[in-house]
Amino acid sequence: MAGAELIGREELAEIQELFNKEKVNLYRYGGGNYKAREFEEKFAAWMGVKYAHAVSSGTAAIHCALAGSGIGPGDEVITTAWTFIAPIEAISALGAVPVPVELDETYHLDPLEVEKAITPKTKAVVAVPMWASPKMDELAEICRRHNLTLVEDAAQALGATYKGRKLGTIGRVGSFSFDAGKTLHTGEGGIIITNDRDIYDRAAEFSDHGHMHLEGLPRGKDPRRAKGLNLRLSEVTAAIGLGQLSKIDFILRKAKENKKQIKDAIRHLPNITLRPFADEDGSQGDTLIFRVRDREAALGFEAHLMGKGFGTKILPEALDWHFAGVWDHLLKAYDRYSDKDLESLWPKTGAMLRSSICLNIPVLMDDDTIARLSAAIIAAAEEMG
Ligand SMILES: Cc1ncc(COP(=O)(O)O)c(C=O)c1O
Repeated sequence: MAGAELIGREELAEIQELFNKEKVNLYRYGGGNYKAREFEEKFAAWMGVKYAHAVSSGTAAIHCALAGSGIGPGDEVITTAWTFIAPIEAISALGAVPVPVELDETYHLDPLEVEKAITPKTKAVVAVPMWASPKMDELAEICRRHNLTLVEDAAQALGATYKGRKLGTIGRVGSFSFDAGKTLHTGEGGIIITNDRDIYDRAAEFSDHGHMHLEGLPRGKDPRRAKGLNLRLSEVTAAIGLGQLSKIDFILRKAKENKKQIKDAIRHLPNITLRPFADEDGSQGDTLIFRVRDREAALGFEAHLMGKGFGTKILPEALDWHFAGVWDHLLKAYDRYSDKDLESLWPKTGAMLRSSICLNIPVLMDDDTIARLSAAIIAAAEEMG
């Protein structure tokens, strides 16, 4: 839950400040707006990048990041078979072809599978860090060798790092979400970050009907060079984002501390396998993943935790929204998948996901809750045998 747990006075003060202005303007490109710009500048500074552009959702952010990178009809975009469906939707909305590939042992894009999936039509690789880092050195090297754009949809991994570098800053462009389940929560919202001026400009244009935002020109005279949509962020949402951003270091630190305590309490269990990492120190506290024997054991585990008042997150209960193997409604529209049994295309990923448990680690956990959750995991593991 992260940022959503801490919404309060600071966010309200930012909104109040907006309303205290002589002429309130809640529209991002209206006269006198400033919260969206301030949020972008502060976010870019926290990430250590030159440019940030805030938009209406995380889905909009990856859509703009890809549009800004020049992805278009017929281009193939390699990504992971385990992700929330949004990046696949964004690739598809641009007329490009999503090419999901199998996971490695860290639950991320397997660099060997990426390399195998490259064709002359491949234009980009979208890495989707799930609260930790993919093997970014290997992915960056593959993209460099094949002249592909490396994109990071880091919606789930704000604040996570790889070898000391913040995720989202390693590829040419990164995107984040601020929905209710993310590190920062603004109601709805998202942002793209990059050091590449051209990608930034084009992504910002795409988010605003193609408006080029040329200085000194009235909006109605603003030219365009490509098509777009309205994916803008409102000033109110940006104000909430400013309040949330002031809490980010606390959120990241607390979740990490909580997760460490829980992991230390359960790491001795012989019948669960904690997921391995490309860089464990850089992983987020937000979510704990481990594997059990099989699907039946995972469902039993979930039921046991539910009985003790603890839910799971994504795995196993929301697999349908996070696995390419069940997305017939989207992938069957493409020739390469139309006559395929999707499930059989990513057997390793399917088996991993079906036997895994994902747990949300809240920021606001007292010692008693941490002890109860740890005890519930231990009891579920013992029951599983
Ligand atoms: C990897 C990834 N990308 C994009 C999104 C979409 O974000 P939003 O809900 O803000 O549209 C999500 C949401 O869970 C996600 O996990």
